Amino acid sequence: MRGLHRSLRLKVPATTVIPVGQASSRRARLCATRASCSTPLGIASRTALYTTFATANSSSKTPNWNPLTTAPVTNGEIADLSKQHQHPLSLADLVKHGRPPLSTEALFSSANFTLSLLPIRLAHRIQALRNLPFIVVSNPNINKIYNNYLHSLSTLLPWKHRTISNVQDEIAFTSVLAELVATHQDTIPILAKGFLESRKYISPEQVTEFLDKHLRARIGTRLIAEQHIALHYSSAAHFDPSASPTPCPEHPHYIGVINTALCPAQIVDSCAGYVAEICEYKYGIRPKWIIEGELETNFAYVPMHLEYIITELLKNAFRATVEERGRTLEPVVITIAPQRPDTEAPQVKVGPPAEDKGAFRSEAIKPLDDNAPGVTIRIRDRGGGIASDILPRIWGYSFTTFSEEEELFGTSMLSGAGGGGSSLAGLGYGLPLSRAYANYFGGDIAVQSLHGWGCDVYLKLKGVGKIH
Ligand SMILES: Nc1ncnc2c1ncn2[C@@H]1O[C@H](COP(=O)(O)OP(=O)(O)OP(=O)(O)O)[C@@H](O)[C@H]1O
Ligand SMILES: [Mg+2]
Repeated sequence: MRGLHRSLRLKVPATTVIPVGQASSRRARLCATRASCSTPLGIASRTALYTTFATANSSSKTPNWNPLTTAPVTNGEIADLSKQHQHPLSLADLVKHGRPPLSTEALFSSANFTLSLLPIRLAHRIQALRNLPFIVVSNPNINKIYNNYLHSLSTLLPWKHRTISNVQDEIAFTSVLAELVATHQDTIPILAKGFLESRKYISPEQVTEFLDKHLRARIGTRLIAEQHIALHYSSAAHFDPSASPTPCPEHPHYIGVINTALCPAQIVDSCAGYVAEICEYKYGIRPKWIIEGELETNFAYVPMHLEYIITELLKNAFRATVEERGRTLEPVVITIAPQRPDTEAPQVKVGPPAEDKGAFRSEAIKPLDDNAPGVTIRIRDRGGGIASDILPRIWGYSFTTFSEEEELFGTSMLSGAGGGGSSLAGLGYGLPLSRAYANYFGGDIAVQSLHGWGCDVYLKLKGVGKIH
């Protein structure tokens, strides 16, 4: 069965509607839980917080302004917005409002910056969905995503001509963002299902072209919204560590969702433990791993992104290791190598924190001059490598060599317990989506296969540069 395209093997009629979020089949369960549980550090609970925020703030705190007021989205509005230039996002953009706790003015400036970007980005996505063949957009799953975008744009349009300059408005706007993040949480499995069902009407190349752009844009849009939400909780006006969806503001190295001193070795170790647990449940074997290289390396990056990528790469490496039966399990070796300091690296200036929050340990933010400008992480497995006829296809969305039989064999204990779950493989999105995350801030992933022996996967990431 190895090497078949997922879309050829799933016998889902093009017109079948699989209700997402309902456990109508194991596949539906796995897909629905994947987005929220594919990383070990609790994206599911963050989403719950976003939802809570949106609901809590839609009533009592904003008597004069219902944040989820919607405005009709007209064709003209979409055409106008989608003609406007989409600002390419850099990590420097996300830290430019200063170190938490943000002053109220800095928080307003973050809110207005966020507002200036999001409607244009959503309109670009709506337009891209409209450019798909009509029969594809009519698919119930793709249509659900299309409607989610329309809905989110309709909640932002009432804000479009406003400048956020008072605390009530900022709270209301943040709850619109929280709702936006929660609404789009399950986009990936829903789109995957939609394209699978529409495979008669759209070629794999067209799907890849669409998804590459769409999922990259989604990474940026979520980041912009999540950054403002995190800054909101760590601002002088709304300082509330217990409610914050990220370790900011209690963690001294965080600026919103960015950890300015992220230690990749720690993330690798925690993700490996998580993936080993899935393996142990599925195969009864827990592969070993070794982390070597410069373990103390720090760089400024978005931990959620690194967690996602490392988890996906380790799932592939562990799966290959375990499936290469008849051989003693060799450990997966992960090597961390910092990039050498680059005198040309961008210098990022970050303003000082607001002074009046004693609970925030702003003095603990150390100068970051010694941060690495980026890291390379090599994941080396002895899992038999990838055959040369399969190798060119591994970057295609939906390409997987995971077989139906294997999947049926390994039912998910976690899903059964109702607490969410995860699969080791099967959707065929792990590599292309990880590459999209890495590319987002100028990094990349390369796979080198020695067929019959194993794989070396190189993940290169650029940090935010020096933060002053
Ligand atoms: N380290 C590896 N060793 C052997 N084969 C690999 C390795 N990494 C990737 N592959 C091959 O590339 C294919 C695509 O990988 P990808 O991660 O995109 O999808 P998947 O693992 O099948 O499903 P999922 O969406 O759950 O990640 C895999 O099915 C596998 O055949
Ligand atoms: Mg995978």
